[in-house]
Amino acid sequence: MKIIIIANRLPVKIERTGDGFTIERSEGGLATGLGSLETEVEKYWVGWPGIHTDDEEEKQEITEKLHQLHFHPVFLSDEQISNYYEGYSNSTLWPLCHYFFSYIAYKSEYWAAYREVNALFCHEALPFIENEDFVWVQDYQLMLLPKMIRDRKPATSIGYFHHIPFPSYELFRVLPEREEVLEGLLGADLIGFHTHDYMRHFISAIYRVLNLNCNLDEITLEERIVHVDAFPMGINYEQYHQAPALPEVREKSAMLREKLGNKKVILSVDRLDYSKGILHRLTGFAQFLENNPEYHEKVSLAMIVVPSRDNVEMYAELKAKIDQAIGEINGKYAKLGWSPIFYFYRSFSFEELIAMYDIADIALVTPLRDGMNLVAKEYLAAKGEQSGVLILSEMAGAAIELQDALIINPNNKDEIEKAILQALTMPDDEKRERISRMQKSIAYRNVKRWANDFVKELRNIKEQNKEILLRVVDEQQLIQIKSAYDEADSRLILLDYDGTLSPFTKMPEDAVPSEQLLDLLRRMSADKRNKVVINSGRNHQILDKWFAGLPLDFAAEHGVFYKDDGEWHRNIMEKINWDEEILEIIQHTIEKTPRSHLEQKDAALVWHYRNVDVWLAELRTQQLVNALIGPCSRLNLQIVPGNKIVEIKSPDYNKGSEVIRRLEKGTYDFVLAIGDDTTDEDMFRALPPYGISIKVGSFSPAAKYRIPLQSSVIPFLNKLIQ
Ligand code: UDP
Ligand code: G6P
Repeated sequence: MKIIIIANRLPVKIERTGDGFTIERSEGGLATGLGSLETEVEKYWVGWPGIHTDDEEEKQEITEKLHQLHFHPVFLSDEQISNYYEGYSNSTLWPLCHYFFSYIAYKSEYWAAYREVNALFCHEALPFIENEDFVWVQDYQLMLLPKMIRDRKPATSIGYFHHIPFPSYELFRVLPEREEVLEGLLGADLIGFHTHDYMRHFISAIYRVLNLNCNLDEITLEERIVHVDAFPMGINYEQYHQAPALPEVREKSAMLREKLGNKKVILSVDRLDYSKGILHRLTGFAQFLENNPEYHEKVSLAMIVVPSRDNVEMYAELKAKIDQAIGEINGKYAKLGWSPIFYFYRSFSFEELIAMYDIADIALVTPLRDGMNLVAKEYLAAKGEQSGVLILSEMAGAAIELQDALIINPNNKDEIEKAILQALTMPDDEKRERISRMQKSIAYRNVKRWANDFVKELRNIKEQNKEILLRVVDEQQLIQIKSAYDEADSRLILLDYDGTLSPFTKMPEDAVPSEQLLDLLRRMSADKRNKVVINSGRNHQILDKWFAGLPLDFAAEHGVFYKDDGEWHRNIMEKINWDEEILEIIQHTIEKTPRSHLEQKDAALVWHYRNVDVWLAELRTQQLVNALIGPCSRLNLQIVPGNKIVEIKSPDYNKGSEVIRRLEKGTYDFVLAIGDDTTDEDMFRALPPYGISIKVGSFSPAAKYRIPLQSSVIPFLNKLIQ
């Protein structure tokens, strides 16, 4: 068994030397987290090596060197880099997921390249993937990849982690390729986000864009359940915590301290990115300088900006704006021997960065949107026993865990100014208390825990999906069921109607039986050994109308009515006079819920909401059930939420009571029940031990078998009786 990590970038630094290449591992967060996974598990990485060459010999040399590290390169052409990496990944998806609506570029060549490169990653990764392996796809550059791998290796266990925010549905819906992107992700068994908010937005997009059924954090597909969960990514806490004591770091810190004298340092570290709020930070800092002249010559902002994606137009423009803003602030406030802002536009080595964390009194982290923000966590870890203050944007995923930071809205420059002042004047005791609480939390939720939790959940899901798969009626199981059927002399066959014998239609009255179904039922009931019962929640009038002339038995309205040998009987003699209060509650719900309606049966009331928006339906269901609890318990009525309905009925009868009644009346050596809804589970539970229960659609532990698609039910029954 192996773990195969597929990420846009390999964690390596490759450099051209005079006669070839040097390759060094670069230990990013992910690489460290994975490095800590059980040692007996082999790990493989597939990704772009970050270097461009068209020379086949050079590619060969790089590939061989990387293979020694268990890395496999995916080489990209210039055009692919510009359309897939700079294009769809960083000019379409990145602004979309970071709420920069007006920055989103829509170009067909971007999308074409994104598909092409995702397919290329799939092609390169496939030879490494064996059935028992776990594949872990990383981030927004590869959202189509899970499905591509699933299509070719259906049994593989696939995880996906989204390292950036997932936007609300109202923004996500603007993406022209929204369906394909979501379907791509659903190839995974487990989809992870940093926070519950991103997870919630993703599930909402799944409901609304793909119209799929979700049950809390699970999305039910035909053959699998996809799990969605939040795993806040951490850092290698110990490494950052201990690093300030390294001799080379101490030397650098001492040098910096000497140069700065007793001036306070506010530090910021980001890639050059519009999502990081660099200009907002500068505006806030300028306001602080303007309003608080007593701090001039006493406080400086050290700004580390790491070059990033500089071929993307929006990034290049931002660079010019930052340069200009810093120039203006320094030009206006600088004095001999004091610069308000020290600006570094380059990447720092680990030791240099730790020295900066070490000497900084305050970290000012102000992203407008950020999936997590590891810099905030690294700063806290590296503070060791010393004090420091973290000012953190509420728009960073990290803000959920780091509530002891000074939390600000980066769009509000007054808040930035106030937070800087509060940090500068905070008593040492308070600083220590705040920082040690946050250190405790990030020491616990470190990157090892993150990687281990994700992989552990992926393993559990693999087991669960195996179980689900085992219950699906395949050829083998059909043979077993059929031989029990063939050997039997007296058979009871109980069939639910909507969602089982008939597809779930937009309007309930459209679910008229097909000719194909009527023909099947005719042939089934012609066999004298068969007692075929349609066990439905529908009213008896409609069942009579739809199946007129067929020698079938029925149970209607969940067992309140039953038809035996051509005669209808009723378990509740009197027609229910519905309580005014209950009717009013439902009427009120209908008025507030467009496209929902009431069905009034003889013995039950049903509120239908098949065509209502999922969010509204959930809200109204909850409100309706809450409002009905009082009157229904007073009148001894049962409230049963079903598939896009809420039903109010007598508690004495259900689909299971009908099964019990029939089993008491007759003797059968073969009993089969098929149904798709929660109410059908009463029928499954009432079967004798030798009974065969089949759930249509999603998995239910109450049924022995499962048929994933409603459209497979009639073919199954045809094979059974032939
Ligand atoms: N970083 C780096 N070199 C630098 C400055 C920062 O490698 O010169 C690292 C930093 O230590 C952190 C990462 O870059 O681990 C930035 O991660 P973050 O989550 O803060 O932002 P992202 O760049 O992923 O959006
Ligand atoms: C963010 C993304 C990563 C990406 C990193 C650096 O953290 O979530 O997927 O690798 O930025 O960006 P780059 O474009 O340089 O790989």
